[in-house]
Amino acid sequence: MSAAAWPDDPYGFDRIDRSWLEARPGAKWHRPADGVLAAWVADMDFPTADVITDSLHRFADAADFGYPDWNPGSPLRDAFCERMQTKFGWDPKPSYVRETCEVLQVIELSLMVATNPGDPVALFCPSYPPALNTLGQMNRPLVPIMLDRTSTGWALDTERFANDIASSGARAIVLLNPHNPTGHVFTRIELLAIAEAAERHDLLVISDEIHADIVFEGTHMPFAALNDTIVDRTVTTTSATKAFNIAGVRAAVVHVGSAKVRDGWNALPTHLMGVPSAMGVEASVAAWTLGDHWLDAVMVVLDRNRHLLADLIATKLPGVQYTVPAATYLAWLDCRALNLDEDPKQVFLDKGQVELSPGSDFGPGGVGHVRVNFATSESILVEIVDRMAAALRA
Ligand SMILES: Cc1ncc(COP(=O)(O)O)c(C=O)c1O
Repeated sequence: MSAAAWPDDPYGFDRIDRSWLEARPGAKWHRPADGVLAAWVADMDFPTADVITDSLHRFADAADFGYPDWNPGSPLRDAFCERMQTKFGWDPKPSYVRETCEVLQVIELSLMVATNPGDPVALFCPSYPPALNTLGQMNRPLVPIMLDRTSTGWALDTERFANDIASSGARAIVLLNPHNPTGHVFTRIELLAIAEAAERHDLLVISDEIHADIVFEGTHMPFAALNDTIVDRTVTTTSATKAFNIAGVRAAVVHVGSAKVRDGWNALPTHLMGVPSAMGVEASVAAWTLGDHWLDAVMVVLDRNRHLLADLIATKLPGVQYTVPAATYLAWLDCRALNLDEDPKQVFLDKGQVELSPGSDFGPGGVGHVRVNFATSESILVEIVDRMAAALRA
């Protein structure tokens, strides 16, 4: 990409061009057919931070690809603790922190050691499909906790939630905060209600905070930091991969507050969890320690885009409902009023040549919706909506 700098867009985010994107080997642009605009999986169209690519270049130049000397832990642990402290005011306990390969792996391994097949698990719906699928694959019946679209954003009805949990027999709650696909940033009151239910019914809380760096409205509060006791039943997991657009590096972090999960993991065969690659750790540490100037610039473009999308939808896609997300670069569009004969994702793909994520994959509350990834340039975002509008006219 030629990223000629100008004042409002120092990294050239609005200058990414289609041919550069289409030539990329990653799944987002490579998997869709030729000519299709990719706005599905949660990768951004922007090249990652220069400090990350520089650190990986230096790593490659040193050509030391042997086992890294991470005793007792990798530098990712320190970078995580430091970032949680400075950005979110939370002091993780260093001895509870370990590096892993993926966030989803943490969710699965936590459920594996702290619940049994057949134990119901609560998840806020509609939900990021892999989290939903995990419950199905692991035979943990879903307890869907519905988020509500209100006139001001998304919300959890805390009273209904308390009743749902009380009657569900749930043994654990998987919390995605900020939430995918709604972009909801759980408020302190909502988190306290979740903590209260967890204490009352002795539940494990697995808090996936991977989108915590991409918050436009409200404040991200690490669940484990809510009060002095909740950490003891919480597993917190995150990574630099969503905010810094490096999902392929496969490195994540977990803070295992729950003794049950810590003990369960200690009893597992040593290598089941695996460790991330040295390159993944290198990239993630660079992101968290040096990448904030880049992230600040990305946030400006994403903030512009989430509102631009509202304007575009209002003028070009009447009938589609969109609540501007408080976090993430994902837009959750309600297309039910369009009364389409087919899944809207299929209509937009077949007639508009745009690849979106189908709402039907997101479980309860998902049918009739699509998820649009708006982490792209202004001109591509406009074209995405133009093509969606053309699909509806066709
Ligand atoms: C809420 C959430 N959790 C987890 C992931 C994926 O994390 P990982 O690739 O580390 O498993 C994503 C990816 O989009 C996500 O949105």
